[in-house]
Amino acid sequence: MPISDAPSLLTLMWSPLTVVTSAHEGSRGGQIAVGAFAASIVPAQPRVLVQIQKRNHTNSLIETSGKLAVHVIAREQWEWVKHWGFRSQTEVDKFEGLDWFEHDDGLPILGGVLGWMTCRVVNYMDGGDMAIWLADVTDAARNTRAQPLRWHEVQQVLPPDWAEEYGRKLSHDVPDSGRRMAELSDNPPWSSGLSP
Ligand SMILES: Cc1cc2nc3c(=O)[nH]c(=O)nc-3n(C[C@H](O)[C@H](O)[C@H](O)COP(=O)(O)O)c2cc1C
Repeated sequence: MPISDAPSLLTLMWSPLTVVTSAHEGSRGGQIAVGAFAASIVPAQPRVLVQIQKRNHTNSLIETSGKLAVHVIAREQWEWVKHWGFRSQTEVDKFEGLDWFEHDDGLPILGGVLGWMTCRVVNYMDGGDMAIWLADVTDAARNTRAQPLRWHEVQQVLPPDWAEEYGRKLSHDVPDSGRRMAELSDNPPWSSGLSP
């Protein structure tokens, strides 16, 4: 298989759209993520695996607090891709004017979503560009039985100027990720100290 076939296969493997939020010492953040997956078959011990770019503000909050909340968003919330996914909390307060509340454990929980889970980090993997967080679910609520939303469905209705704006963001993010990924593969952590 030519490697150029891989991106279209990988696209099929992204998760439904989520907003991942976190908070630390009065600072909060949140972002769209399609890299949020179920990571447990034990109903009494629910666990998630979440991939967050290290450059993102949300990631610095997860790193310092050890906590994150995953919100599965509903179909009618497709416009959130721009609100939560195109800009950083360092540029604009994404919470302003939105319906949200602070959970007992300090995490921001968004209103109007299909459902949400608060989570506590139990392990981490360095992906080079990404931080890969394994986290236990500590609380959860499912608000509706609505269908989740996938990125390819949003792409079909994305206004052209939004698509352009996202394209500009990717033209910075993709080369930056490539550089960071290459740095990691030069020094595989699993081989250090294991072989002579
Ligand atoms: C459809 C879509 C999916 C995305 N999926 C992810 C993802 O899985 N992980 C990630 O780190 N960033 C993802 N992003 C990018 C972040 O949402 C984006 O960089 C955001 O502006 C980061 O915000 P922050 O700096 O406030 O944390 C996605 C963006 C879009 C539009």
